[in-house]
Amino acid sequence: MKKEILLTGDRPTGKLHIGHYIGSLKNRVKLQDQYNSFIMIADQQALTDNAKNPEKIRSNLTEVALDYLSVGIDPSKVNIFVQSQIPELNELTMHYLNIVTLSRLKRNPTVKNEIKEKNFNESLPTGFLIYPVSQAADITAFKATVVPVGEDQLPMIEQTREIVRSFNSIYKREVLFEPNVLLPEKGLGRLPGIDGKAKMSKSLGNAIYLSDSSDTIKQKVMSMYTDPNHIRVEDPGNVENNTVFTYLDAFCLDKLQLEEMREHYKNGGLGDVKVKRYLNDILQAELEPIRNKRNYYEKHMDFVYEVLKTGSINARSLAAETLSEVREAIGINFFFKLNR
Ligand code: TRP
Repeated sequence: MKKEILLTGDRPTGKLHIGHYIGSLKNRVKLQDQYNSFIMIADQQALTDNAKNPEKIRSNLTEVALDYLSVGIDPSKVNIFVQSQIPELNELTMHYLNIVTLSRLKRNPTVKNEIKEKNFNESLPTGFLIYPVSQAADITAFKATVVPVGEDQLPMIEQTREIVRSFNSIYKREVLFEPNVLLPEKGLGRLPGIDGKAKMSKSLGNAIYLSDSSDTIKQKVMSMYTDPNHIRVEDPGNVENNTVFTYLDAFCLDKLQLEEMREHYKNGGLGDVKVKRYLNDILQAELEPIRNKRNYYEKHMDFVYEVLKTGSINARSLAAETLSEVREAIGINFFFKLNR
């Protein structure tokens, strides 16, 4: 049976942290056996609000590639590629832009939020505003039907589905495929930062990175936000909005032991330091092999670049096929037959 096509990706604006690991990377490793998988490093999307910092995106591209390989994304199973190396995606974007209205784009909740967060005002780059259309190109170019992303990306997929429907109906051919979202399992959505803030991010300085040393991890765990009213060990503690317990829910496999600790903490008599040490042991055990693999690949960068290059060559030839069908459907395949 032919496997369904899965596509997902990340903008390389920083190293990946354990929030990415819990929310998506771990799942991608699981899914790589079930789907014909494509993972894109969306450097061009990252450039839409980083035109003046291409160096930042370039260096993070390598970091993200290292993160992927070190968590066990297997390049013999997954086509890992670099978005900017597939110029066909840009032409697809241009064709799609003609069937998307400006008002529809401005209503896209994900972009709308980000525009607000980033305080662009009058300096909003057009490339940033239209990135949902370029994302539709990413997805449709590979005829992906499964897109595993977080809740925040739902509007992106909805917009892609609309573009697919418009395109196929205007040009009267089933050239493009409607993708479906694959959401993270319950409880494995967004991990808060170590300060308890809803989002783990570089700018808030509250993330634990896959590349962090064991000392850094320990120090971050020991400084984690818990229940501010749990002052003495014998005090009853709150386990809701208690970051240490939230992380334990995500990482601890011994659910029985965890339930016991939760009860003990609630009733009083279990100190923060003890719980943090327990979490630290679990995190260290999970992250050490990842860090070791990362160190290995860092010393074998030729291999890493080869993976990206091969992946990009494969991805490009598939995108060219779709683009060729799109040109044919529109009726602008006059002089050149792409890839035929
Ligand atoms: N928008 C995604 C992010 O913010 C990255 C991305 C680009 C993507 N193209 C995609 C995700 C296509 C899934 C499918 O990280």
